[in-house]
Amino acid sequence: MSDPCSFSSVSHFLTRHLNLALHVDFSRHVIKGVIALTMEALQDRLHALTLDCRDLQVFSVKANGQAARFTTGPKHTFKGAPLEITLPFDLSRGQHVIVEVTYETSPTATALQWLSPEQTAGKEKPYLFSQCQAHHCRSMVPCQDTPSVKHTYYAQVSVPKDLVAVMSAVRDGQEVDPQDNERIIYKFRQPVPMPSYLIAIVVGALESREIGPRSRVWSEKEYVDKAAFEFSETEAMLQAAEALAGPYVWGPYDILVLPPSFPYGGMENPCLTFATPTLLAGDKSLSNVIAHEISHSWTGNLVTNKTWEHFWLNEGHTVYLERMIGRSMEGEPFRQFKAAGGWKELQDSVNTFGANNPLTNLVPSLQDVDPDDAFSSVPYEKGFALLYHLEELLGGPEVFMGFVKSYIQMFAYGSATTDEWKNYLFTYFKDKVDVLNQVDWHAWMFTPGMPPVKPQYDTTLADACIALSQRWIKAAEQDLSSFKASDMKPLSSHQVIEFLSLLLQEAALPLTHVKKMQEVYDLNASKNAEIRFRWLRLCVRSRWEEAVPMAMKMATDQGRMKFTRPLFREVFTFDKYRDEAVRMFQSHRGAMHPVTAGLVAKDLKIQASSSL
Ligand code: BES
Ligand code: ZN
Repeated sequence: MSDPCSFSSVSHFLTRHLNLALHVDFSRHVIKGVIALTMEALQDRLHALTLDCRDLQVFSVKANGQAARFTTGPKHTFKGAPLEITLPFDLSRGQHVIVEVTYETSPTATALQWLSPEQTAGKEKPYLFSQCQAHHCRSMVPCQDTPSVKHTYYAQVSVPKDLVAVMSAVRDGQEVDPQDNERIIYKFRQPVPMPSYLIAIVVGALESREIGPRSRVWSEKEYVDKAAFEFSETEAMLQAAEALAGPYVWGPYDILVLPPSFPYGGMENPCLTFATPTLLAGDKSLSNVIAHEISHSWTGNLVTNKTWEHFWLNEGHTVYLERMIGRSMEGEPFRQFKAAGGWKELQDSVNTFGANNPLTNLVPSLQDVDPDDAFSSVPYEKGFALLYHLEELLGGPEVFMGFVKSYIQMFAYGSATTDEWKNYLFTYFKDKVDVLNQVDWHAWMFTPGMPPVKPQYDTTLADACIALSQRWIKAAEQDLSSFKASDMKPLSSHQVIEFLSLLLQEAALPLTHVKKMQEVYDLNASKNAEIRFRWLRLCVRSRWEEAVPMAMKMATDQGRMKFTRPLFREVFTFDKYRDEAVRMFQSHRGAMHPVTAGLVAKDLKIQASSSL
């Protein structure tokens, strides 16, 4: 079993601990680092080991304090390069060695975005954040960058004294940098073993506020109060999750709200979930992003996919748990409603990739595939659909949650493959093997397109959305006067999102219809990002020219890829504005996150530039 996305030699050595000393240099956009990796030999007579790195400048390597020879192999397009180290002595199985690497990151490190003061809310201080999942940690830290390896870490981060550093770990104090009294060293410890992709760092003008017994929100001061309000249900969700999945082992659960260019909705960095600021603009409603990231504390962070080919184990189980939290807090109809919405997301992804695309397999081959290119709703929603299908076959939510909890206990602190998951499923349900044998496993896991079975979800909460969307779809010009602002009154924000999603699955509405919809519902005024995103796509699809600048503004004012990529693609497919989409992208590219910029460039069929 090897990781197609890593060069590191996991059959020879395993990393047990990392000790990081980082110096963050905002003037050069580099992190200077000294990292000590505690590594355990798995075989006798070992004297060579390989780490992953990407665009790192390595100055020296020591092994137990002695100089060691090293060389970087040829650079691969997305994997980076192998850092090959020759130890000045032999190790036998079970022995540990401390490998110390002194290095510097590149200003174009794919894990990092360096923001100028103008790109922050406060406009006065620069800002740095990392996003390591899936395979970007190696551009920040030389390491065994594969989720099959878990280690603890300790870190000391030197930053200018007017800035604050936080990491995906427990805060362990701070002191004036003895080398430079204009700087502070922040310290962190992560005593729970975790994979490299969960290492995370943020440096900026951060403040924080308590929101629960084990939780604070962190952000620039401009966002702190809004964030504390939006995420006030964090402790209730943590307790709901613990009741389902077992104790939360990570100590603190803080949330950090990033600047708008953060490419994801949320990222489950241990002790410190990262969240997009696009969650703040809405009317407050149960945040599924936070329920989702909380759930990763068990599925993903405790039990981890062994390689990115098994990413559905992380995301499918996390969506399942996220919806079980929704069930605990809002009831079963809410879970059914969200599950039905997820099926539609899956349908959209399958349509975008094409129903024969092997990347729509639940378990795709990632041989020579960049995990960022493979990313979609498929592992989330095909994974959820499989788990829900099994739930129905095996006896309902309580019974199946019993399995999920037991799977978590079984693989806690380790990593799993799909086969290991499936073997455990058959062991746990040993009395229902005949039922399990009815499942078309090959179709679910290794066949592209939609799943072989479509679950029937309850439509209690969806009915109002379906009815209203049908009225719009069927309306002739002379029927438009029947639509009233009050149509929206009975709908929750979740239902408005669902209403728009339903319309997006149909042929474009006539322009007269979307104009009327604006007149009666005034969706242009919506600040809820999930609503605004779908509404603007709908308008552009109906070729409403006035919506183009609004769509482009949303695509560039924030950089959450879920919004930015489809908005760019939508305008790009509007022939008259295709060049405008490209121009917009070119002029914003410099301010965009490196991964987002790379993917939007591909979406818009633009060749990679030398700046990447
Ligand atoms: N771990 C993911 C984000 C991610 C996946 C980053 C792969 C990089 C590579 C995170 O937990 C996630 O799934 N976020 C979703 C939340 C949603 C499903 C509620 C998002 O960002 O939209
Ligand atoms: Zn997730």
